[in-house]
Order: sequence, then C-alpha cells, then structure tokens
Amino acid sequence: MPREGDVITSQPVQSVDKSGGKVQGMFAEIAPRYDFVNRMLSGGIDILWRRITVKRAPPPTTGAILDVCTGTGDLALAYAVKAGPRVRVVGSDFCKPMLDRGIEKSAARNVPVEWLEADAMELPFPDNSFDLVTVAFGLRNIAETEKGLTEMCRVCKPGGKLAILEFSLPKNVLIRKSYLWYFRNVLPRIGNAIARNHADAYSYLNQSVEEFPSGESLVRLIKQTGFDHVDQFPLSLGIATLSIATKPTIPRQPNMAGQKVTETA
Ligand SMILES: C[S@@+](CC[C@H](N)C(=O)[O-])C[C@H]1O[C@@H](n2cnc3c(N)ncnc32)[C@H](O)[C@@H]1O
Repeated sequence: MPREGDVITSQPVQSVDKSGGKVQGMFAEIAPRYDFVNRMLSGGIDILWRRITVKRAPPPTTGAILDVCTGTGDLALAYAVKAGPRVRVVGSDFCKPMLDRGIEKSAARNVPVEWLEADAMELPFPDNSFDLVTVAFGLRNIAETEKGLTEMCRVCKPGGKLAILEFSLPKNVLIRKSYLWYFRNVLPRIGNAIARNHADAYSYLNQSVEEFPSGESLVRLIKQTGFDHVDQFPLSLGIATLSIATKPTIPRQPNMAGQKVTETA
C-alpha cells in the first residue's frame, strides 16, 4: 500500500519534457554555476546528504564503483576520497560540460576518478562490472527511469549495491505544504536567476520532483528492474531520500521481480 505522502505515479506521468536533448542542453547551460547554485539553494546540506550516502552505502575494499549521472562529480569524488587507491571509481554522464567540471575538480584535488561520457540508458560496460552503483539527483532526470535502473542492475555485480539519492517530498502534511510553496514559488526564481539560464532548469527541478515516484512506488520500481532488499532513509524531514538496494546473487525469475505498478490514487 502506498503511504501518505507517496507520489503515486509508478508509471511516471511525464508532463515534464525529459528528452535527452532537452536535459543535456539544460545541464550544459547551468554547468558553470551548478555547484554554486546547489550550495546556495540547499544551504550546503547536499554535501551532508552525499556524506550520509557514502556512510550508508560504503565503498568496497577492492573492486569498482560507478556513479551514474555524475554531473560535476561530487559523489564520485566523495567515494574516491573514501575508497582509496585499490578501488576504481568511474563517473559517467551524457553532458560533457558537467563532466568537465568534475574533471577540473579531480585534477585540482588530485583525486583519481575515471570520467566517461555515456547515456545512463545504454551504459558501455559489461554485465556484472561494479560492486556499487550510485546515482545522486540523476534518476529523476533519465528519460526512461525503468531503462536506466535496468542498466544499473545489469552492470552491478550479483550481491552488489545500488544507492539512489533523490529529492522527495516530506510526508508530514504541514511541512510538505510549506516546502511545496517554497519549492514552487521561491526556489525556481532564485535558481534560474543565479544560474542565469534561459531553459528554466529550476522550474524543471520542482516539476520533475513532484512527478517522480517516491516511497513505496519507488521501491517497487527498483524491484521491478531486478534489485531486492530496498532500504529507504528519509533525509532532512524527507526532502531527500536515500534508497539502497541489493542485486540478488541468484537472478530472480522475470515475473518475481515485482509486479508492474499500476496503482491509482
Ligand atoms: C541534477 S544533476 C546531478 C549531478 C550529480 N550527480 C549531483 O549529485 O550533483 C543530473 C545529471 O544527470 C545527467 N543525466 C540526465 N539524464 C541522463 C542520461 N540519460 N544519461 C546520462 N546522464 C544523464 C545530467 O546530464 C546531469 O548532469
């Protein structure tokens, strides 16, 4: 049963245009100021959320980590610092200007990350390549969420983990109402003005978050694509959620991987 506050859109209702070209163009435009705007709008709390992600889904002692939709690479860099030299850390994204910021940061900090231009719906890696696959504030942007998750499952090793850090809406009705007001009216104005973008990226932000499945709906979507044991950790009153899933060691039968979610409100 969906819980109060879940956004019941398991087949994500897409009034927001998430076509590859549109999303790529939008992030290319805000790339130079992306980190600055992130810090401003979140008051720096996004750094804490990434720290919690690294703590709750720790790096393996050896092996490989893939950060999908890595953008300017903050999560990939956080993992590379924590993991040390015996772990290969790869950051992939289909927006070159975003990746370029990551490349600059890893060079400046001398933190080794392999950066790769790649579409999350067609990851250029063999099956079972990574011990840990992560995606921070990226899943919501992938044009076909299920296709992206299926690819993440394919490249994850059996027994490996998937960590998804994503915005969500607070479950408490009062907090949710105030947050939605800020999210719809204040954040897009500040974000678009500071980022100086013409593509309304920060209006897209609140629309895409409101439409994206959360809570139980997201858990089912993750399970549908082959993962199991999904744990969810609401962060900062639920304005973000960390979901951690495991890829089973024995592949599940297709019809056991969770039913297609077709809830209606
Ligand atoms: C909001 S940013 C998140 C960046 C970073 N992970 C972070 O935590 O700040 C979303 C990123 O997802 C990338 N993205 C969206 N759809 C993608 C796709 N289909 N394949 C690869 N990257 C994609 C965008 O280019 C963008 O860099």
